[in-house]
Amino acid sequence: MANVKELHYPDDFIDQFICGNATDVMQQIPSGSVDLVVTSPPYNLKNSTGNGMKDGRGGKWSGAALVDGYSHYGDNVPHEEYVRWQRACLEEMLRVIPEDGAIFYNHKWRVQAGLLQDRNDIVAGFPIRQIIIWKRKGGINFNPGYFLPTYEVIYMIAKPEFKLAEKANAHGDIWEFGQESKNRHPAPFPASLIERIISSTNAKVVLDPFMGSGTTALAAKNLDRNFIGIDISPEYCDMAKQRMKDPLSVVKERKKKPQQAVLFEDLEVK
Ligand SMILES: C[S@@+](CC[C@H](N)C(=O)[O-])C[C@H]1O[C@@H](n2cnc3c(N)ncnc32)[C@H](O)[C@@H]1O
Repeated sequence: MANVKELHYPDDFIDQFICGNATDVMQQIPSGSVDLVVTSPPYNLKNSTGNGMKDGRGGKWSGAALVDGYSHYGDNVPHEEYVRWQRACLEEMLRVIPEDGAIFYNHKWRVQAGLLQDRNDIVAGFPIRQIIIWKRKGGINFNPGYFLPTYEVIYMIAKPEFKLAEKANAHGDIWEFGQESKNRHPAPFPASLIERIISSTNAKVVLDPFMGSGTTALAAKNLDRNFIGIDISPEYCDMAKQRMKDPLSVVKERKKKPQQAVLFEDLEVK
């Protein structure tokens, strides 16, 4: 994994994008100094019993941005290794939040070898208070064995004194937001989803250890909060920095064939 230079809190962290390995960088953040974590890790998509995302041929995924993968991460490790890694990341996230802090951890359940793979092996033992269903568009991975998946989950992992902002509880626990289709990053959050999360808390400092194109940072700034962004990819860190100056800089070029552009919106890209 990438080497990270010695960093000093807060100057090297607050409102900064740090290019490095999530756990290495988080280890340099003092305990209890981040109010909120909002993140979506890589899903280990290329380690799959389906053939499309696994071998890069595409198959039913052939138009999906993630067929080409992330710029600096393969997203293909043995399942047990992936679970160990994600649990180590969650341990660090939990350490850096205070007694009234929370983690919003987005993940996706999927069918593997005909059986549901929920993500309980990753989150078991962490203080999960609630699961929010993010209702999004269905993908194109039609399978005769199960109904078309149309949601992802957001685990709200909360320390004992965490409270929502006033009246935020009225949002309920099923949230409908379309996928982000214009961003050049292969698996971006929709900005409105992140704004919903951050504005539902009183957090001042928001960390995203898998920052990608900087959606969490932009949402934090729009809501007058501070952010800390980490990503392994120098390319995505540059993209995120640029986005803070010019939010439209992440917009991808339009495809020439209109039909292909429509397909992108409908794909399961994570
Ligand atoms: C699902 S994407 C996050 C996208 C982000 N939410 C956005 O809106 O653009 C996951 C990100 O994790 C990054 N990543 C993969 N391995 C990493 C690691 N070990 N440490 C930090 N970032 C990593 C990838 O480069 C990718 O940008």
